[in-house]
Amino acid sequence: MKRRLTIAPASDEEIDQSSLDVFGLLRRVFSYAKPHARKRNQLVALVIFRSAALPALAWAIGAIINGPIQSGNLTAILLATGGFAALAALVQFGFYFRIRHALELGEAVIHDIRNAVFEHLMRLPMSFYDRTKLGRIIGRMTSDLDAVRVGVQEIVFVSIVQVGNMIIAGALMLWCDWVLFSIMLAIVPVIWLLNRYFTRRITEDQRLGQESFSRVTATLAESVNGIRVTQGFVRQDVNADSFRELVADHSRYSLGAGNTSAIFLPLLELNSQFFIAMLLVVGGYRALDPDIARPVGDIVQFFFLSNLFFEPIKTLGSQYNNALTAMVGAERVFRLLDTKPEWTDAPDAKALPKIQGRVEFRNLSFGYDPSKPVLKAISFVAEPGRTVALVGHTGSGKTSIINLVAKMYLPTTGTLEIDGHDITRITSDSLHRQMAVVHQHSFLFDGTVLDNIRFARPDASVQMVIETARQLDCMDIIDALPKGLYTQVGEAGANLSTGQRQLVSFARALLADPRILILDEATSAIDALTESRIQRSLATLLQSRTSFVVAHRLSTIRQADLILVLDHGRIVERGTHTELLTLGEIYAGLHRHFTQSS
Ligand SMILES: Nc1ncnc2c1ncn2[C@@H]1O[C@H](COP(=O)(O)OP(=O)(O)O)[C@@H](O)[C@H]1O
Ligand SMILES: [Mg+2]
Repeated sequence: MKRRLTIAPASDEEIDQSSLDVFGLLRRVFSYAKPHARKRNQLVALVIFRSAALPALAWAIGAIINGPIQSGNLTAILLATGGFAALAALVQFGFYFRIRHALELGEAVIHDIRNAVFEHLMRLPMSFYDRTKLGRIIGRMTSDLDAVRVGVQEIVFVSIVQVGNMIIAGALMLWCDWVLFSIMLAIVPVIWLLNRYFTRRITEDQRLGQESFSRVTATLAESVNGIRVTQGFVRQDVNADSFRELVADHSRYSLGAGNTSAIFLPLLELNSQFFIAMLLVVGGYRALDPDIARPVGDIVQFFFLSNLFFEPIKTLGSQYNNALTAMVGAERVFRLLDTKPEWTDAPDAKALPKIQGRVEFRNLSFGYDPSKPVLKAISFVAEPGRTVALVGHTGSGKTSIINLVAKMYLPTTGTLEIDGHDITRITSDSLHRQMAVVHQHSFLFDGTVLDNIRFARPDASVQMVIETARQLDCMDIIDALPKGLYTQVGEAGANLSTGQRQLVSFARALLADPRILILDEATSAIDALTESRIQRSLATLLQSRTSFVVAHRLSTIRQADLILVLDHGRIVERGTHTELLTLGEIYAGLHRHFTQSS
């Protein structure tokens, strides 16, 4: 049977509010505990023991008062209290393991889920990242998983113990004195209602507080990222003002939640004390009335048992909320984990053998959204070892063609073949191992220049790296860095200039020794002087492999074996530099424009 819970709309995004399959989620979270079955089973045993042991201790107190103490038998008193102390010690010893095991199990489960999510993310195709904000993914990995961790470590097992205590304490009280128990039950609805009213208000304030806090962090991140623009346009004061308002907002909600708790907790305590007073009056009467003559130990017993009975009711509200947050977190994490890639390699896809590098587009159309094609009826052949230059205005489809060659996306219609193998029938990995792409905004990972160049071939020797840089004629530029090859590039390569970053990614691509090389506006950030220097060496390097080049500088394009001129996703002209100049149309126009302006 599925239990359904209704929850408030998730604060960041998504439509999670509708319904949660509680037992399904629990089962799935705990499926990650399977490798730790021993610990899990011990934990369950400890939890059952504690559920029964706490009421037993409470009951024992009354029994000792009624028995040995009433009869005044010193030996019996010593024996009974000794037994009590031993049981108490055992319970607390078990408690230590209960806490430790729950912490370790929670940690292990989250650790495994986190790794599973990361592995899943690394395999999702580009189209997923086009749709998904980074902040959302980070939210799944941090706050959502943390809520699940709290759920496993602090909610599940505590709740089981509490419910167990409640049932056993209730049964014991009912058995000892059902009249007192019934009187006590009258107070349950009062506590329940108080709890509901206040917990709702506190939760609402906390939710608003969390939302305002994410606005604070988002604004902070944006302001720091955009600090150049902010200072450049002298917007510091304006930004600080709006930030101050957000922070004030946040304080207001936090104080609101605090104030409500400040009223709630004393009320709750007063309630318990009121109940004790009632217990003393009724219990006292029942002890003194000669017709009933309940032993005094029963009042004490009741006092301790009722504590165990009420404790869960008091904490139920906050437990419930934390449990809900954990459930929502788990639901979101599993949704991410269950995100089916829009496409994967066909199950019978073959590994591409070592290729020559012939690439053929045959009447291919493609759209990121299939209903809005950005490439239409593209047909051309890139012969092995030849260079194809793609030319066209921004948005004409140059990068899209490259994305298809790199199998980042699949064609909508038509075919794309590599050495005669349909790209949909080969494994992505085997293709990517024989291909290297240099983008306009080349991404470097935090680490040294050397690490980054060796990215695709971690086993390459330092000598090989230096050799590659020499071939590119850029070793002197790397040597000029503060620590040469061992310079830390910083987060996303922030310590290097854009041009230096691109040289590093060139070296990275060439060290990989690909059969197909793709340069997408890769030289745009390299200054003209350096470019002309590496131009010659680049030409030799391109010669032995099939290459696709998108470049703004005609010097690169001029040497291409085939130039494709794109316009709105169609090839409108094709040929060599000289052929297209002779044709005297679009390319010739571009060329004229270019030579005039430079
Ligand atoms: N990830 C994407 N999702 C949706 N549309 C895209 C995406 N990338 C590019 N486009 C669209 O596809 C068209 C071709 O873009 P692109 O191939 O990047 O052009 P170019 O590289 O020639 O500047 C443009 O209209 C662009 O808006
Ligand atoms: Mg582009």
